[in-house]
Amino acid sequence: MSVLELRDLNVTYRTEGGDVPAVRGVNLTLEIGETVGLAGESGCGKSTIAAAVLRLLPKGTKVTGEVLLDGEDVYAMRPGRLRAVRWTSAAIVFQGALHSLNPVRRVGQQIEEAIRLHAGERAETRAVELLERVGLPAARAQHYPHQLSGGQRQRVLIALALACEPKLLIADEPTTALDVMVQAQVLALLEELQRDRGLSLLFITHDLSVLTHTCEKLAVMYAGRIVEQGPSKAVFERPDHPYTRALAASFPTIGDPASRMNPRGLAGDPPDPSALPSGCPFQIRCDVAIPECTTLDVALRDAVSVKGLADRRAACVHVGVARV
Ligand SMILES: Nc1ncnc2c1ncn2[C@@H]1O[C@H](COP(=O)(O)OP(=O)(O)O)[C@@H](O)[C@H]1O
Ligand SMILES: [Mg+2]
Repeated sequence: MSVLELRDLNVTYRTEGGDVPAVRGVNLTLEIGETVGLAGESGCGKSTIAAAVLRLLPKGTKVTGEVLLDGEDVYAMRPGRLRAVRWTSAAIVFQGALHSLNPVRRVGQQIEEAIRLHAGERAETRAVELLERVGLPAARAQHYPHQLSGGQRQRVLIALALACEPKLLIADEPTTALDVMVQAQVLALLEELQRDRGLSLLFITHDLSVLTHTCEKLAVMYAGRIVEQGPSKAVFERPDHPYTRALAASFPTIGDPASRMNPRGLAGDPPDPSALPSGCPFQIRCDVAIPECTTLDVALRDAVSVKGLADRRAACVHVGVARV
């Protein structure tokens, strides 16, 4: 059974200015021990998906489709069940949470509290074990958040998320606020946790190049939809969707100094989700758009352009054939 399955997930925020369809028809599966990367520019709906998994969206937000955690529908759970599942089945390291630690409590205490919330036992010892597991010496338990660097705080947040031994960890831009060296360390930590503990990881980032090293599978989002998915190396190196191509080219390639000097930017802005154009939402920025693209909004379909790579899918008129 899959650890996480999203079936035709749609999330619409209700605002005074009208409805904002932030996630549209997303299907995504994460198997046990698997790492899946979710990429796309800011505003494409990544954090909305993270919040939707644990029903942490603002009240009144419309959600349709299914979110299955270990086969159980999260949106059919009673409040007690939902509380039991949050942080024990799936935990989230929230985007931009580096300053969310309580400034007046020692980090060790904060982890102990998270442990007590569910399991309770040996909280103090386990808090220290968790800190060590994320690469921080036991003595750090006595420190206050302001005494830690950004990278160390991110490790504490990961330790907090692991406090209840979740099977699934959703890490929302866990490296974005960190400098490159520390980014690499946090990535290595996540890889190690995934490998040694069989943790399933949904890794969210706007930086496609980070994902290719960390994730087996990749899903690229644009304007609330997955527009391309497949094995991460293949998707990154030979993207099928013009958006993925542009996104991949907009980040310097690791080990390629030339691209670092001159990353090709992704021109234009993503569309406003509350005012999507008809046809393909990427058409305005697309360098291979044809007249059909103004009317045709192609669904995700098998990319059979390259022989033997049928596990790849993309939502573009130029790609493959529709799945029957
Ligand atoms: N609470 C909210 N109310 C209304 N709109 C929101 C809210 N949160 C996010 N949005 C909108 O939903 C879209 C997706 O946002 P988000 O999921 O945060 O994207 P990402 O994480 O990919 O940057 C954006 O257009 C954003 O402005
Ligand atoms: Mg986000």
